[in-house]
Amino acid sequence: MPKSIRRYLIAGNWKMNKTASEGIDLVREIHQSVGSQSDVTVVVCPPFTALESCGKALEGSTIHVGGQNMYPENEGAFTGEISPVMLRSLFCNFVILGHSERREYFAETDAFINSKVLAALESSLKPILCVGERLEEREADQTKDVVKTQLEGGLADVSADQAENVVVAYEPVWAIGTGKTATPEMAQEVHHFIRKWLSGRFGDTAAAKIRILYGGSMKPGNAQDLLSQEDIDGGLIGGASLQAKSFIELVTIARALS
Ligand code: 13P
Repeated sequence: MPKSIRRYLIAGNWKMNKTASEGIDLVREIHQSVGSQSDVTVVVCPPFTALESCGKALEGSTIHVGGQNMYPENEGAFTGEISPVMLRSLFCNFVILGHSERREYFAETDAFINSKVLAALESSLKPILCVGERLEEREADQTKDVVKTQLEGGLADVSADQAENVVVAYEPVWAIGTGKTATPEMAQEVHHFIRKWLSGRFGDTAAAKIRILYGGSMKPGNAQDLLSQEDIDGGLIGGASLQAKSFIELVTIARALS
């Protein structure tokens, strides 16, 4: 099936950056430039403390807001956590899950991430499931094994119908925040591997609809070559999503390729 059945998705992962008022300034600029286009799905994922104000500032635009994490229960004694219902009540329709920073600093396992993926889908939140190898794993030629294990674990018990609402983000850990990007060919090879795995697991039709994003030092200077690859359907952007100019440029590049 042609790539054109998948709309490009450009998502900004702000990580632990921007206060609520700084967030409003950033999304206002983004809204002014690309807030009414619908060629590309645009998502901003501010920290929880800025979700409500950013969501309000984006009202009437085509831009979505998403969470950066969540706990897989709707309510209860889970101090410091945020539920799918809480995200939905702030009009989120995406949530980043299993980011490598959460795997590394908060010891998140594939099983725990899987419970979040299932809870997100139950609540009509589209999970952006992050997978990717560390440098030593790439050097030991284990990239595909690592990614396969993360996909098998993270997407356990997801049905083919639900799978169409899943977004996968391939983020090689060694490329995150380092300025080192995977070459377009290296990224495409893993994206193709992911698509094949998705086809085996959910069938060709569902796999052809699932968007696979690249993340890791994506910026306006390298986005065109990455996004042109057959199985790269967008980007999960860290550093370059913190300035309106670079984020808007990334959306513009994706639009031009649409
Ligand atoms: P950078 O774009 O800053 O490398 O971050 C990528 C990332 O981790 C997005 O989730």
